[in-house]
Amino acid sequence: MRIGILTGGGDCPGLNAVIRAVVRNAAEHGSDVIGFFEGWRGVIENQSRPIVPDDVRGILRQGGTILRTSRTNPFRDQETLEKLLAHWGDLGIDALVAIGGEDTLGVAARLYEEYQWPVVGVPKTIDNDLNATDYTFGFDTAVSIATDAIDRLHTTAESHNRVMVVELMGRHAGWIAIHAGLAGGADFIAIPEHEVNLDEITATVRSRAEKGRSFSILVVAEGAKISGLETTQSDRKDEFGHVVLGGIGHDLARRMEVETGFETRVTVLGHVQRGGTPTAYDRVLATRYGFHASELVHRGVFGQMVALSGSEIVAVSLADAVAEPKTVPEDFRRLAETFFG
Ligand code: F6P
Repeated sequence: MRIGILTGGGDCPGLNAVIRAVVRNAAEHGSDVIGFFEGWRGVIENQSRPIVPDDVRGILRQGGTILRTSRTNPFRDQETLEKLLAHWGDLGIDALVAIGGEDTLGVAARLYEEYQWPVVGVPKTIDNDLNATDYTFGFDTAVSIATDAIDRLHTTAESHNRVMVVELMGRHAGWIAIHAGLAGGADFIAIPEHEVNLDEITATVRSRAEKGRSFSILVVAEGAKISGLETTQSDRKDEFGHVVLGGIGHDLARRMEVETGFETRVTVLGHVQRGGTPTAYDRVLATRYGFHASELVHRGVFGQMVALSGSEIVAVSLADAVAEPKTVPEDFRRLAETFFG
């Protein structure tokens, strides 16, 4: 077979591990792999080259993606879509492995449904917000990096009697914030799924101070909703219509200092959460995903995404995977709340 592969959307640690696994498994089946560069842009503009087993040596532990990535949306206009469909017809590709989050896999699902493309999806995103899988790869690494940051902020916060606000990524899901906040023993975690009032946060800081704890660690997801706090989110959007988030941490920090009198500092962890080497967990998960995606391709099973269900890798429909984002359930948030303050 001739198998295309692409990585789309925001990069995350483990992409190279998936590519390596697909290429190695395909070689065992006697198939060739063609890598498209920069996500869907590579198919639209026919930027591709064969990826052979020698090309994937030593990349398991590398962050980023050797195929590079972009947030290109082939459905953004008719002209772009026609270009994509025309190139696809010329390429002689038997199957396409699309590695991405809701946007990249949303395109894959449409191409399967509307144009019968032989696609298989692999769930990638630090945000962990894809439905129909327990975990996406990249999430564990992001949580580890964020937890390490919170641990480090603890010692400096305590030394200076400061409030530390930590803004974490995750878009409209609070998975990174709630996991890293729990693991790091944060005093408050604000996530998009549950609107809080600014007063709840200031009350937490004050009540800690009354108990002699003169520092606080406040974790805020970039998409958190805090009533009573004026935020300065940008109105810039990407090709899929997502607002570019970021900035709520600074808004919160400013108000905390005014409301509580504690000197307050802010850390916006940003793209550090997406960079560098994947954790062992993500390397193994990504490798399993890549291997099973290639197996599905060789069995001729398309329109599916490989997924983690408990400890098993299963196949789920791409349509289900992108139907709606997976958000933090209320019972998990309430569990985290037990440890606030
Ligand atoms: O989806 C992954 C993610 O890192 C989000 O958590 C974040 O909102 C967004 O991508 C940032 O995108 P960009 O890399 O385009 O700044």
